[in-house]
Amino acid sequence: MTVGLDVRSERERVARACRPGQPLPEFVYSSDEDILWSRVFATLRTMHEQLACADYRRAARLVQLPAERVPQMSEVSRMLRSLTGFELAPAIGSQPGRLFYGPMADGILHATPDVRPVTEQSFSPDPDVIHELVGHAVILADPEFAELYRCFGRAANRATSDEERAAIARLFWFTLEVGVVAEKGHPRAYGAAILSSVTEMESFVNADLREFRVEDILAADIDDSICQPLLFVADSVSRMMAEVTSFLRTRVGS
Ligand SMILES: [Fe+2]
Repeated sequence: MTVGLDVRSERERVARACRPGQPLPEFVYSSDEDILWSRVFATLRTMHEQLACADYRRAARLVQLPAERVPQMSEVSRMLRSLTGFELAPAIGSQPGRLFYGPMADGILHATPDVRPVTEQSFSPDPDVIHELVGHAVILADPEFAELYRCFGRAANRATSDEERAAIARLFWFTLEVGVVAEKGHPRAYGAAILSSVTEMESFVNADLREFRVEDILAADIDDSICQPLLFVADSVSRMMAEVTSFLRTRVGS
């Protein structure tokens, strides 16, 4: 499968031309990219029924991502706005630090419209539209998760030191990217990087699963180029949220 460079560069041009406050543009996807989306999404959706946390499964029923084509960011953003007030904004590639987290305070998630290469269909080290929409956007339909994203954004805007910014990145990674919660004694995923990767979904239950402790997360290493060997399992989503928001509110920018 080949995806013409012209399709990618046209998406990049459209994304770069988009300005805050303007209606989101429509992005062009090739038929091969639609096929890749439908194949990966079908596999993930089946896996989510068994291994995604209850909040995610409930949110996915609300958002109803299309199965046969790459969704437009605009249609998903409209749905989120009506449910939790969150919106999507186009980004190209990954965005560093405050540029990524800061806008979340205002309910804006920067998301790339690009599609992973077919050679990385089961695990993509870089964010792509499957990661952004299947992973992040769906759970942003849940009001409490949306508030947690906002809390990270506010903390990023308050942070005054590299140490605080590193703590935010680690907490975000081990919760909203590779977070796992115990449900009836079984690990269930709520993190976007797991939920958007077939390989991660197949393997996360066999990772080194440790008790969720903020101080342990702050000392843990991140390597987003491989499936995560170490994950932190919260007793419940509400306890995870309480501990993370308490840390961000009291220990960042204070
Ligand atoms: Fe992400």
